[in-house]
Amino acid sequence: MTVTRRIRFNKTKTKLLLDISLAVAFLAALEPSLTGFYWHEWLGIGLGAAFIVHVLLSWSWVTSVTRRFFGRTSGQARLNYVLNQVLLAAMGAVIASGLVISKTLGTADALGISFQASDTWEEIHRWVPQVALIVVGIHLGLHWKWIVSTVQRTVWKPRRRRQTLAQLPRVSARS
Ligand code: HEM
Repeated sequence: MTVTRRIRFNKTKTKLLLDISLAVAFLAALEPSLTGFYWHEWLGIGLGAAFIVHVLLSWSWVTSVTRRFFGRTSGQARLNYVLNQVLLAAMGAVIASGLVISKTLGTADALGISFQASDTWEEIHRWVPQVALIVVGIHLGLHWKWIVSTVQRTVWKPRRRRQTLAQLPRVSARS
């Protein structure tokens, strides 16, 4: 007899887990002294990759709002869209400036970037994360309902349903 286990890809759960990891990793990256520069730099690169996956998982939303931006769409969707663009630009600037000023990975040399890491790049890397933090806060606020309802649906409710099903045989045995 062959036993086949079906592993189902739950997109919503994946998004939730990725978003929580992104938020925690972003907070950790804001304080390089927590990890030291070596791990800070790897964490920043990992954040960049995770951020791209985060955008790709919401790609259908991005394309549909892009098409309707100047047409029939809600003010909330437009605000979200503009904030997401600001966040994308901020993340791009933080990661690019990080790669230029890198102390341990030597990424600027590896990428063949010839200019010296100037004070300007360090200033960019010092200030843009603060702007990104504010935008991330607003972004989370605008998606708060989704976060709460997804946690309820995927974390709390399935557990409760499993308990109810586990109790069923005992209830029917007594009656
Ligand atoms: C989203 C990703 C990132 C965030 C939020 C972030 C945030 C920060 C912050 C807040 C600081 C302290 C700035 C200060 O007050 O001096 C810092 C420093 C630093 N970061 Fe990042 N960073 C990120 C990605 C990267 C990456 C990808 C690299 C390199 C590969 C990098 C390299 C550095 C370096 C070398 C410093 C020390 C700068 C100095 O000399 O003070 N960071 N980062």
